[in-house]
Amino acid sequence: MFVSENLGVNENGHLTIGGIDTVDLAQEYGTPLYVMDEQVIRSNLRRFHESMQKYYDGKGEVHYASKAFSCLEMCRIVASEGDGLDAVSIGELYTAVKAGFPMEKVGFHGNNKTDEELEYAIEVGVGHIIVDNLPELRRLEKIAAEKGVKPHIMFRIKPGIDAHTHDFVKTGQIDSKFGFALETGEAFEAVKEAVSCENVKLVGLHCHIGSQIFDIDPFVEAAKVMLGLIAKIKDNLGYEIAGLNLGGGFGIKYLNEHDPVPFEKYLEKVSEAVKSECARLNITQPMIYIEPGRSIAAPAGITLYKVGARKEIPNIRTYISVDGGMADSPRYILYGSEYEAIVANKANEERTEKVTIAGKCCESGDLIGENMPLQHAESGDIIAVCATGAYNYSMSSNYNRLQKPAVVFVNNGQSRIAVKRETLDDIIRNDI
Ligand code: LLP
Repeated sequence: MFVSENLGVNENGHLTIGGIDTVDLAQEYGTPLYVMDEQVIRSNLRRFHESMQKYYDGKGEVHYASKAFSCLEMCRIVASEGDGLDAVSIGELYTAVKAGFPMEKVGFHGNNKTDEELEYAIEVGVGHIIVDNLPELRRLEKIAAEKGVKPHIMFRIKPGIDAHTHDFVKTGQIDSKFGFALETGEAFEAVKEAVSCENVKLVGLHCHIGSQIFDIDPFVEAAKVMLGLIAKIKDNLGYEIAGLNLGGGFGIKYLNEHDPVPFEKYLEKVSEAVKSECARLNITQPMIYIEPGRSIAAPAGITLYKVGARKEIPNIRTYISVDGGMADSPRYILYGSEYEAIVANKANEERTEKVTIAGKCCESGDLIGENMPLQHAESGDIIAVCATGAYNYSMSSNYNRLQKPAVVFVNNGQSRIAVKRETLDDIIRNDI
């Protein structure tokens, strides 16, 4: 009935998540509120890692992309499932360290890492650093020499695959700020330089073609292109690349009309391509890594808001204003991303209206969505926006000096706070 399978309706007609009444959650913890269902996170992680084990005969690892949603509790959950992590800043690394994450299972990304970040990544012992460009390789070589260590690196490659998704989240094409281009020979030249470096060890290649992708083909194509480069490196340089990281990007269902491929299917098809290409190119199958973010966190989350003003503009539209907005839910203004919304305290009523849900920020574009089918909403109602577990909390801001909402985890009928709501003192904490 709802876009996320963990949502239901109880005997009071209230929306539930993981079996807990969302109206009670709103009352207990306040609104706006991010709610994450631990069981969904765990089950998604397991689906990924079981498939990786199955399709790559034990030579496959899942590194959850923590940019989708990161906090100490999330890192602890990923660690307890035995999966790895993709971190893209010193802040994400620090969160993992503080959560006691096994850092040898962390890949460190970024197209413009600072020396401070590289030094920190080495100090905390990340498993590998995914190098984006030659100046970074040279800086890392110098830092490693000074520290007397030999970090493992991968190279971020642009495989030249144009995935069909929003322009802002495409990354595999040649016109991208990320990585070395394959078509121009830049990637091969960089590999030549890396294999002659004394203080870093090239252990893998990486690509990530984009996010919220619904087709299997671009993933298959990217894998083939990357294996072609691995074969070229072996044939020309006699150097064997041990690991291939194929990134994340698996599309999820935000609306009922979305019909994403189950991610097991992507992995199965990609693994078939990997196996046949390795045989054809006569190379040893590398260790395969993937970095799903959205597909693990998004379906686990909802955001709860309280309705304030209802404004009907005859023949134009009805605005339902809520107590959050673009500061906690920036994806509509950024990408026009659509979500399903439900009046949580009227969850078994018909959706009789199409409304615009507006935030409280001082900006007309501050909308949660337009043309959203919704039950009749009045001041004081609670609205749940579904599938917000990825790239909402992690992209939230303090615009208009709003306090960031709390994050609550639910599990087996219990709820617990994972991130406290910011206080007014938090808002001025760094002001002098
Ligand atoms: N690996 C790398 C290197 C990435 O850059 C990303 C996402 C991922 C993995 C995870 O991709 P996922 O499985 O989550 O699609 N803020 C945008 C999404 C940006 C994605 C950035 N990179 C949004 O809200 O749609």
